[in-house]
Amino acid sequence: MRLTLRIWRQAGPSAAGRLVDYVAENVSPDMSFLEMLDVVNEGLVKKGEDAIVFDSDCREGICGMCSLVVNGVPHGPDRGTTVCQLHMRRFKDGDTITIEPWRAKGFPVVKDLVVDRSALDRIIAAGGYVSVNAGGAPDGNAILIPKDISETAMDSAACIQCGACEAACKNASAHLFMSAKISHLSLLPQGKPERFRRVIAMIEQADSEGFGSCSNEGECEAVCPKEIPISNIARMTREYVKALFVTR
Ligand code: SF4
Ligand code: FES
Repeated sequence: MRLTLRIWRQAGPSAAGRLVDYVAENVSPDMSFLEMLDVVNEGLVKKGEDAIVFDSDCREGICGMCSLVVNGVPHGPDRGTTVCQLHMRRFKDGDTITIEPWRAKGFPVVKDLVVDRSALDRIIAAGGYVSVNAGGAPDGNAILIPKDISETAMDSAACIQCGACEAACKNASAHLFMSAKISHLSLLPQGKPERFRRVIAMIEQADSEGFGSCSNEGECEAVCPKEIPISNIARMTREYVKALFVTR
């Protein structure tokens, strides 16, 4: 395939950015999207030009590092798929593909397609741990947890902290991400002792990082590579309201 790539280039956090056109020749449908960018970069380096900077690590959909907006959609056109798992067979010869970084106030651009997502780490650090000394690992059957509760908690734990939900939301809300973490911990008995302190701390931290609130658009759920449902946001809101009554 021969493709035209319109790629966001930005030299640094305070530099002006712009879309630059590149032609990618001989693209195999079996390439992953990131392999295709690797080949484009090899060509640029051979010509003595700056390689296009983008994030990736595992390239198998589990680490949350890849973060590209492809034709306006975070992680691209395939549902429940990270952009590192997107393949070029999804496109056809002659296509023009626009590639941009996550765009949200809480995610400043570092360079080209890389954004600073440390705000999500600070939200986790604000409330996403259990500080109670639980002693040694208990026997698996000592704390009985209903199957449906453990399944829902583990489904929530599938969040890979990629930030696509914030990038897709018109409010740049971090609610789907936070609600996945809060659901994971507050549903399980081990996470209950600090559930109220946790939900308040995480929401306050997200507000201070410049993320917006939720207005129930559902864009986050649509782009989430782990298909985290927005019903988690309703659970987080219930937790938050209860926490305000209990603690204030
Ligand atoms: S909820 Fe989904 S989209 Fe949001 S950070 Fe977690 S995995 Fe990424
Ligand atoms: S590079 Fe790890 S999820 Fe995409």
